[in-house]
Amino acid sequence: MILASAAADAGLHGVLTPPGDKSISHRALIFASLAHGRSSIGGLLGSEDTLATLEACRQLGARIETRAGRTLVDGAAGRLRRPPGGVLDLGNSGTAMRLLAGVLSAQPFECTLTGDASLNRRPMRRIVEPLTRMGAEISTGDNGTAPLRIGQSRGLRGIDYTSPVASAQVKSCVLLAGLYASGRTCVREPRLSRDHTERMLPLFGVELPAPTCVSGGSRLRAVEFDVPGDISSAVFALAGAALVPGSAVVLRNVGLNPTRVGFLSCLKEMGAVLKVSGLRNRDTEPAGDIELVYNGRLRGIDVPRERVPDMIDELPLLMALAATATGLTRIRGAAELRVKESDRLAVMAAGLRALGVQLEEYEDGMDIHGGSIAGGRVDSAGDHRCAMSFALLGLVAASPVEVSGAEYIATSYPGFVNDMNQLGARMQTGGRP
Ligand code: S3P
Repeated sequence: MILASAAADAGLHGVLTPPGDKSISHRALIFASLAHGRSSIGGLLGSEDTLATLEACRQLGARIETRAGRTLVDGAAGRLRRPPGGVLDLGNSGTAMRLLAGVLSAQPFECTLTGDASLNRRPMRRIVEPLTRMGAEISTGDNGTAPLRIGQSRGLRGIDYTSPVASAQVKSCVLLAGLYASGRTCVREPRLSRDHTERMLPLFGVELPAPTCVSGGSRLRAVEFDVPGDISSAVFALAGAALVPGSAVVLRNVGLNPTRVGFLSCLKEMGAVLKVSGLRNRDTEPAGDIELVYNGRLRGIDVPRERVPDMIDELPLLMALAATATGLTRIRGAAELRVKESDRLAVMAAGLRALGVQLEEYEDGMDIHGGSIAGGRVDSAGDHRCAMSFALLGLVAASPVEVSGAEYIATSYPGFVNDMNQLGARMQTGGRP
């Protein structure tokens, strides 16, 4: 568990460099493993999710070592091999499972992809359907869930796929399979989801004939690449500073890909003052420094539906912030939250209510009536982002907030408690104080 108590009177202060971006780290590892030659990756996230991908890439034949803070990957290129025992366990990581399923659908060996209880509950038909249309042979559990049994490929054909959901995992899965298919593979989606795959494949030498299309037979070359900090982790320090009077924090080298910054727009609309400086790598994966100085109590907002994909992983935190704001915050168009590491709408609704917050839960969103946070015990349901979002409320709660499942935070941000405490938070993990 995490026990989070009111922050120091002076608020949160300091400069922090968040850990590497999780989505970009997964892709860097997978693409480098498919490439010819040795890639060198800096700033790779070392969390349970990315370690699951790293281990899977090793089992598929890539050689990976860390030297002087960089991850060196000798790609397995045309000689991917069947993992020992034919099974890859991808832990809690939906990105690892869905992206690797795309690659493995095209390989001349069979293989099973499985994960922990949470991952094995998540919907996989969304990838099985397009992959099957491409000619892959995949079977799932009864409800279209993992384990995924992927048969030996007899060749894939390119498709023009219109995805019913704005999902970067689906898009990336199909595009990766498309690298091995005949002809061209294109993916259309209802709204642009995070576009790391499209931005990163060209760095690996893959030309995209159109923004979300690849040509079969493209060859990946090794790269030297630095992963920017994860905005999905940086937001916790920013949100803490926006909550606690007197705070001023700077987050360095934060990834600012336009498909990921919806939360920053919301923070501004809620009244926070953010300054972005030092913008770099605009053409690839942009990054910059963000300064936030406390600017009074936040105001409730109506979150525009079209912004939801740009902040899908930050919505639990936004719900927590909304619970402290003046007035009402409305979130709609976020039904995808129900199929993340947990049903994040249900988990956040139950947890916020346990902390004394008034809200209404809807099938695709929530109305949150801001007020004060009483404190108490909440269950994170083993979901890293919900656990960190609840813990943050301890900074301003009348009495401490005790969150179950602290160990799951290592999924994406193992240094969360340390980083927050370094800024002036009071969080402890483990048994009761
Ligand atoms: C991710 C895409 C998103 C996001 C997840 C990471 C990715 O999932 O929630 O944390 O790296 O592609 P969906 O593709 O299911 O929306």
